[in-house]
Amino acid sequence: MTQQKDKTITGFSKLSKRGKIKWIVENFFQHPETVMRELKSYWLANEDHQKILDGISENTISNYHLPYGVAPNFVINGKTYAVPMVTEESSVVAAASSASKFWLSRGGIHAEVIGTVKLGQVHFFFRGKKSTIVGCLPALREYLHEHTQDLTANMRKRGGGVLDIQLKDFTHQMPDYYQLLVSFETCDSMGANFINSVLERYAQSLGHFFHEVLGVPEDQVEVLMSILSNYTPDSLVRAWVECPVEELGEFKGGIGPREFATRFCHAVRIAEIDTYRAATHNKGIFNGIDAVVIATGNDFRAIEACGHAYAVRDGQYRSLSGCEVKEGIFRFWLEVPLAVGTVGGLTSLHPIAKRSFELLGNPTASELMMIIGAVGLAQNFSALRSLVTTGIQDGHMRMHLSNILVKLNASAEEADATRAHFADKQVSYQAVRDYLMTLREPATKGQIQTP
Ligand code: MEV
Repeated sequence: MTQQKDKTITGFSKLSKRGKIKWIVENFFQHPETVMRELKSYWLANEDHQKILDGISENTISNYHLPYGVAPNFVINGKTYAVPMVTEESSVVAAASSASKFWLSRGGIHAEVIGTVKLGQVHFFFRGKKSTIVGCLPALREYLHEHTQDLTANMRKRGGGVLDIQLKDFTHQMPDYYQLLVSFETCDSMGANFINSVLERYAQSLGHFFHEVLGVPEDQVEVLMSILSNYTPDSLVRAWVECPVEELGEFKGGIGPREFATRFCHAVRIAEIDTYRAATHNKGIFNGIDAVVIATGNDFRAIEACGHAYAVRDGQYRSLSGCEVKEGIFRFWLEVPLAVGTVGGLTSLHPIAKRSFELLGNPTASELMMIIGAVGLAQNFSALRSLVTTGIQDGHMRMHLSNILVKLNASAEEADATRAHFADKQVSYQAVRDYLMTLREPATKGQIQTP
């Protein structure tokens, strides 16, 4: 029996980047030198940029690259954008671009911000008399307000700050459990640090308030935790497109505008009534949303968590988009909560995120919400348009063809020939491989080398 090498380590984080890579490749890879060279080759050419990335997360040994694409022709409320998108899924950027182009000649995409309110909570137990806590909110608000003046001064200067504090009684679900639900306006920042700092100060001040102002013994108040809530249903954007049904035009498969509108609305309706379909439908929306959120250095996990919580707000998980045909007008809309920032955090740190903002004309957070909402809508439109006409595999496999060609080491000439060959044929990995073999036959006797 061979004894397994101990692959645990203490002090990994204290090693230099080179030291970390050396330890990793020597312990986990069969060809340490090769892997070490490869991982180092992904370090950014620019040492300063590399330092920034190393400072963003811990134990970095290299960079994980994702494609940075652009979807042009997004006309939103009359303004034209070329939208940066980071995604690993082929056909997402092409689908967004195709939808934006479709709506370009039909009035573009419309969007409005319905609200920008962010939320946070202080969770605590109060073991005193209920009558003490019930009427205390006005005084508590005042007390907390006074004790956070220093923390909120800057945000107030920018037009934001704490909007309201609510006291929530959950004692019917958990003994003695109450909550402060605090709403914030954080202007152009996502505001996580601001919100959490204010909440932690509230948490400290809460005990003092009950003890000093209301005379409650200290052991009757226990703060459990304080943290922002990623569910921000009032940080909401609405994006929509509309045109007379006849202007939708003709679609593949001989589908006319009326039939298309009906089939499209049915597809949306199914995502409203069936959760299995709704999850896939909304995933398609987030294909677009996440790509812009990542390209602009925002927190895509927060955005996803919030969007899915919103999709289930009435107790059943449903479509985030809606559709109708009324009096001859086709209308398709998306309503999604988006808590994003255009200043602070990664937005001003990540070298490419900074370029994304420049590309978008340095938008405010509200403008960015509208851009992201419009891309989510466009993505959903493209997916449903394909699904109710040709199906998605046709277009998808054509995009996938590029990946297959890279994987099979196709030269530029081989790639051109293969694309031409598959222009009117179904793409599959096996079919592309077989075709490449026929191209290479004389030289390689049918051998395909994959990396
Ligand atoms: C694939 O990433 C997204 C779709 O499945 C979305 C949808 O079905 O609506 C095409």
